[in-house]
Amino acid sequence: MENNTKNVQQVLILIKPDGLKKSLTGNILTKLSEAKLVIVAAKVVQVSRQLAEAHYEHLKGKPFFDELIRYIQGELHGKPYNRVLALVYQGDNAIELMRKLAGATNPEEADPISIRGAYGRITTKGVYENVIHCSSDPSEAEREIKLWFEPSELAEAAYASRKIIVEKLEKTVWA
Ligand code: PPS
Repeated sequence: MENNTKNVQQVLILIKPDGLKKSLTGNILTKLSEAKLVIVAAKVVQVSRQLAEAHYEHLKGKPFFDELIRYIQGELHGKPYNRVLALVYQGDNAIELMRKLAGATNPEEADPISIRGAYGRITTKGVYENVIHCSSDPSEAEREIKLWFEPSELAEAAYASRKIIVEKLEKTVWA
């Protein structure tokens, strides 16, 4: 009998500053579309130090940490590439499918047909410049998606949210 049990997941993908600078956005999105998942959120983000450190919090203390933070903030690639394209994809086994298309974290060990294998490199300072980030497991995906996106920015919700009343909120509007 066929097993039709679905394992619907969301996964965070970041196209990093080197991916933008090398004009790889289209190629990467085309490759990722092979997974036949749906995009539920997308935005361009200029990454603050606080967001970068929170994203990579489990790596604090590693010798490459400071350089990794500079990399994701776009300091190695300069303007106008000091940003990332953040996306959330959703579908059956989304994390495993996307990690396969991304390839191994170390671009030298990645399948040459994968995104990191084809386009990544290791810098002279020893940082993996691997063009995309992909959540590693369901709990990391949830942590990362909640870090990068507000509930209202997702076209489909995978996690519980709540309404709050915000008073005295300063926001920028069109002049
Ligand atoms: S993984 O694949 O996310 O499970 O790997 P993890 O060990 O959690 O994350 C490592 C992130 O640090 C980046 N990085 C390096 N890792 C190991 N060694 C070196 N030298 C190094 N330089 C950078 C690595 O690319 C992972 O970040 P992401 O954004 O996931 O690629």
